[in-house]
Amino acid sequence: MPELPVAGKIITAQNLVKRYNGKAVVDGIDFHVHRGECFGILGPNGAGKTTTVRMIYGLSPISDGELMVLDMDANRCSREIRKQLGVVSQDNNLDPDLTVWENLVMFARYYGLQPAHIREHLQKLLTLMDLANRSHTRVETLSGGMKRRLAIARSLINNPALLILDEPTTGLDPQARHLVWQQLRSIKKQKITILLTTHYLEEATKLCDRLIIMDHGRILDEGTPPELVEKHVGPEVLELGLKEDPARWQESIISRYPKLLKDSWLLGNTLYLYTNHGGKLLQEIQEITPPCQYHLLRATTLEDVFLKLTGKELGATDVE
Ligand SMILES: Nc1ncnc2c1ncn2[C@@H]1O[C@H](COP(=O)(O)OP(=O)(O)OP(=O)(O)O)[C@@H](O)[C@H]1O
Ligand SMILES: [Mg+2]
Repeated sequence: MPELPVAGKIITAQNLVKRYNGKAVVDGIDFHVHRGECFGILGPNGAGKTTTVRMIYGLSPISDGELMVLDMDANRCSREIRKQLGVVSQDNNLDPDLTVWENLVMFARYYGLQPAHIREHLQKLLTLMDLANRSHTRVETLSGGMKRRLAIARSLINNPALLILDEPTTGLDPQARHLVWQQLRSIKKQKITILLTTHYLEEATKLCDRLIIMDHGRILDEGTPPELVEKHVGPEVLELGLKEDPARWQESIISRYPKLLKDSWLLGNTLYLYTNHGGKLLQEIQEITPPCQYHLLRATTLEDVFLKLTGKELGATDVE
């Protein structure tokens, strides 16, 4: 195993900036990734997730700020850093004409490892990723999920100190996605530090110990999934699918029940009422009979946090 930094911080980004043609697509972000954790970057298309991880694995020089990876400067030591990383990029980047086994062996050679010596290691990786019976299958004929699992197996060949997964399950069907999550949980148990980007809220909730929510190149907030839920939306939400005047109903409900409401958010005709007192709020609302197509009282999730944070951010951008 490579030697790990003593300080326990695998990545430190301070005021990190990436500009393309003078435009900042990563716009002064700060975060740390601690040793042994699974850290997530959650954000919609174009948020700057891939750009951020490409700077971490040295494929894209930073424009400004500071980025330390494994105690090394990302701009000056990119080769050294890369040797200690496992990377699964957004496109699997496998050789379709070779078999599963040949793909692994080719990568092992790239790292200067002798296949004869690491046969057992490669077999273990295939077993871990549930591909042991596919060794001789040509990659071209594998399903999307299998390709992804092979890319993950390949990223572990050099026993990385940090595993970077850029949208590990995008484009997979739900069953394949669940299988990848299962395998990533096994990897997590081995205490490998993981940095993963995703735009799936369920993925972030299931896998990440801590995460940042990013949009338009900026960090909107950071925390564990339960912390973010508690901070922004509280435990419950009452959704009202309003038939008419949603903005007026929102205003009226806010002014009537200031003590029952933690916050509210209107998206189209759907009014989200965040609350610590779901039962009581529902009872009160039923008495004033707003014209609803449906109502739903449910536990909040990271999805509500995301909606609220990115919605506000988008709103702010529209005003600028
Ligand atoms: N090489 C480049 N030249 C110019 N602009 C770029 C380049 N790479 C990325 N961008 C822009 O930077 C922004 C962030 O892109 P990035 O790929 O980091 O987003 P992302 O969060 O990974 O999105 P997705 O979920 O679609 O993968 C986008 O507006 C994109 O068009
Ligand atoms: Mg991306």
